[in-house]
Amino acid sequence: MIYLDYNATTPVAAEVLSAMLPFFTEQFYNPSSSYPEAQAVAAAVAESRKLVADLLGTTSDQVVWTSGGTESNNWAIQGSLTYWHGKRRRILVSAIEHPSVAETVRLLASDGVDVKFIPVDSHGIVRMDVLDTLLDERTALVSVMLANNEIGTIQPVADIAQRAHRVGALVHTDASQAVGKIPVNMSLLDVDLLTVAGHKLYAPKGIGALVFKAGLDFPAGFRGGAQERGRRSGTENVAGIVGLGRAAALAHEWFREKGPTTQRALRNELEHHLQQEIPQCHIFGQQVPRLPNTVGLAIEGWVGADLLSLCPDLRAGTGSACHSLTDEGSPTLRAMGMLPALARGLIRLSLGRQTSSAEVLTAAQLLARAVQTKPKSL
Ligand SMILES: Cc1ncc(COP(=O)(O)O)c(C=O)c1O
Repeated sequence: MIYLDYNATTPVAAEVLSAMLPFFTEQFYNPSSSYPEAQAVAAAVAESRKLVADLLGTTSDQVVWTSGGTESNNWAIQGSLTYWHGKRRRILVSAIEHPSVAETVRLLASDGVDVKFIPVDSHGIVRMDVLDTLLDERTALVSVMLANNEIGTIQPVADIAQRAHRVGALVHTDASQAVGKIPVNMSLLDVDLLTVAGHKLYAPKGIGALVFKAGLDFPAGFRGGAQERGRRSGTENVAGIVGLGRAAALAHEWFREKGPTTQRALRNELEHHLQQEIPQCHIFGQQVPRLPNTVGLAIEGWVGADLLSLCPDLRAGTGSACHSLTDEGSPTLRAMGMLPALARGLIRLSLGRQTSSAEVLTAAQLLARAVQTKPKSL
């Protein structure tokens, strides 16, 4: 079986797992307790916080643990309204956000919040000209993902932040797909809030972080026992936190070893095979900055899920598993102006740090064979 769905989730790295294991058993103590054994656990949590902060070019104080990308995104968006105490009620998000952003703002819109979706161009990049027309002193928050989960396009978040800050708005970026794949630096991006999802970078599921700009007095996520200095109450997921810290250190090491460059070359190899063997294959976002591991493609005349069902040895993502003609297909491709017939065809191949040249070649061959041997599904 060839797994090319690392944007869906990654395995827990061996070093991550072994760092975590003691915190389930002999080091089970509550880090809020005052005796020495518990304080050793608190020290491990602090060390992880420093590792995550180092990866993101910030300081430990700014990192708050959450249960993952979804919670961080919900908190950033809902908290931004509380932050402004009703003085600002407009939220701008890109048209290609993950559902944990898009559904959250839709719910707020149904409650009367002024939500606007910023369109993207045909390459999947936010339309800055439209952003400028939507930004004004009513804007509470601009939330634009750093890297898209479906096709991997990287948004000009630093530029977006600069424009949004001119009108005093807060800026959030969902960096769930970017952290661990490309270097991400809080100060360079100059965002106020940044989302991290552990299971996208070889840490376990159910751990993540919301990272704040220094000095931002943001409303608490959960109230209770005042863990995380009151910002997010609840007894810490210590093993998960230790895992995320170790995963951050591994990501740092991978960057130092030029991992993204090697991965990009392998991804390009995969795209080359695909384009050679399947002439009717469209690859999205090739002309703009993109994650080094992601290929978002569609093959004319095929629903993505149908094609993958003919490749039982390949694990990949699709924009939509639905076959009905009313299904609009991948929301990202639709926002980019693709017709539903093509948007229903999205297949996402996403590489991991261990993916080999042989695997990408076989994946391209499996897809090419499926296209040749069966009639189209549309
Ligand atoms: C861009 C993006 N944001 C948020 C999430 C949600 O993260 P989690 O699964 O940790 O809740 C994902 C997961 O697929 C994602 O790709």
